[in-house]
Amino acid sequence: MQHGHKPNTICPFGASEPKASRMNPIVYFNGEFLPKDQVHISPDDRGFLFGDGVYDVTLTYDGRLFRIEDHLERMANGLRALAIDGVDVEGLSAVGSELVKRNDLDSYNQAVYFQVTRGAAKRTHHFPPAETKPSVYASISPLSRKGDPVNGSPVITLPDIRWSRCDIKSVNLLPNCLANQAAKEASAVEAMFVRDGVVLEGTSSTFFAVFDGIVCTPPLTNYILPGITQKVVLEQCETDGIPIRFSSIHKHELQDADELFMAGTTTEVVPIVSIDGAPVRDGKPGPIALRVYELFKRHAYCE
Ligand code: PDD
Repeated sequence: MQHGHKPNTICPFGASEPKASRMNPIVYFNGEFLPKDQVHISPDDRGFLFGDGVYDVTLTYDGRLFRIEDHLERMANGLRALAIDGVDVEGLSAVGSELVKRNDLDSYNQAVYFQVTRGAAKRTHHFPPAETKPSVYASISPLSRKGDPVNGSPVITLPDIRWSRCDIKSVNLLPNCLANQAAKEASAVEAMFVRDGVVLEGTSSTFFAVFDGIVCTPPLTNYILPGITQKVVLEQCETDGIPIRFSSIHKHELQDADELFMAGTTTEVVPIVSIDGAPVRDGKPGPIALRVYELFKRHAYCE
């Protein structure tokens, strides 16, 4: 469905630059860079009312936005799937870089967040009038790292209660929030969703298992998000001669795995040392997961 309005244009950078502070960073909202506390989002915004929107997150390495083209391509795919039109998605790359410049955050890695919703309009379940402008928001903050890449981290498994379009990075994250809270309460860092006996992915990470030296990860279906870190991990394994395979990983097979690990933008690569309270092998990070972490870091900083 085509909406008949112009793409949301990105404001000219430079002009007069408001000051950023740690508590009140400069963010981007609908064409403007402004202190976060000056953003006014309508209570009629369909993101607020319906979770009607998509988001994406990338990380900075030495101030560069990692794999931004991949993240924005995924966002464009999500917007297309939801028929949210009129957003200059490519322009968000410059917005992200500008946020890096305008916010003097001392953290080495910063998480850059982008969100687009269908915009503010009278509450109707069907789409609003075509002239409704999408809301476009972007922000930057120091990375809150998920898991321990050196010593490994515990995870739990939970039934997947999500919808059947998990390939869209929708802002509807309630099942992910509930599952991640359950993980936290079990002193784990992540929960892996299991559907029909198959382990799919974590609440914000991709799942990997090593069988007979082969790095396996679930095939890209409508039940998982195509992870950018997953793509990078597979590329790095190929370059390093580590065999890879897309294959469904059944929960009952996990006890036979040589190693388990997870990967994602805010996780990077983290070995899984226990699952549902049971140690993975000797309960220590496996050599392949540690090697993949090293390859990933090298690539991320040298890209
Ligand atoms: N989440 N699976 C899910 C459900 C996710 O939400 C994410 C990322 C991933 C990993 O994707 P990527 O490697 O592209 O980050 C897999 C982000 C980090 C988040 O929700 O904050």
